[in-house]
Amino acid sequence: MNPPSPKSIIENPQAEIHRPPPGVFITFEGVEGAGKSTQCRMLADALTARGREVLVTREPGGTPLGEELRTLVKHFQGPGGIVPEAELLMFCAARAQIVRQTLLPLLTRGGVVICDRFADSTTVYQGFARGLDLGVIRTLQAFATAGRMPDLTFVLDLDSEAGLARTKSRGEANAHTDRFEQEGRAFHERIRAGFLALATAEPARFRVLPAALPPGELHQLVLAEVDKALG
Ligand code: TYD
Repeated sequence: MNPPSPKSIIENPQAEIHRPPPGVFITFEGVEGAGKSTQCRMLADALTARGREVLVTREPGGTPLGEELRTLVKHFQGPGGIVPEAELLMFCAARAQIVRQTLLPLLTRGGVVICDRFADSTTVYQGFARGLDLGVIRTLQAFATAGRMPDLTFVLDLDSEAGLARTKSRGEANAHTDRFEQEGRAFHERIRAGFLALATAEPARFRVLPAALPPGELHQLVLAEVDKALG
């Protein structure tokens, strides 16, 4: 149904304006193996049960182009590898696509987007851990995201060794470790410290939760924070 025109409202001040609820953009961040995808699914089920239109997606990925970039950036082993600058641009390219193809249209019609990693991962992995210029990253982020940052971001905080151990026990069953999982302990410690630093710098958007909790308990904490934030 089309919304009433300004003219019809002036002529009939009783005319009700039907607006969709505001879109909500929630992201989960953290070290490898923190259990982000489980929490994304549990939150999506809870909000769907309340009648919201919910999309769970992930970064890099979530679109056909993004999924191809994901495979490349995680697993490319060709001669020359991927230099950090190219890696940064690959994440930004995937993000530019998902923001315009999927996220913005859904948020505009009042949906809830739950994304497993987003721009904060770029600041932490390519900025803090790979050491690329943070000013350049900030400019690229604004361009890739069209300025739409999450409304609420959960950092599932976990000792980086414990996270990697969880990833390995999962990985042995199915796939090889990727380019990021192969990095050393110092790299993963920078990741953990990086997310905590972002959360400290922007407390209005971030919530840090202990990822070592059982998934059900963690979900209850997540839901309580979402309820608070959504009013
Ligand atoms: P994934 O298998 O999704 O890892 P996880 O389960 O830990 O989320 O792989 C995504 C990898 O890409 C992960 O190691 C983090 C990294 N990454 C970046 O380096 N920069 C980014 O901007 C994003 C979104 C991910």
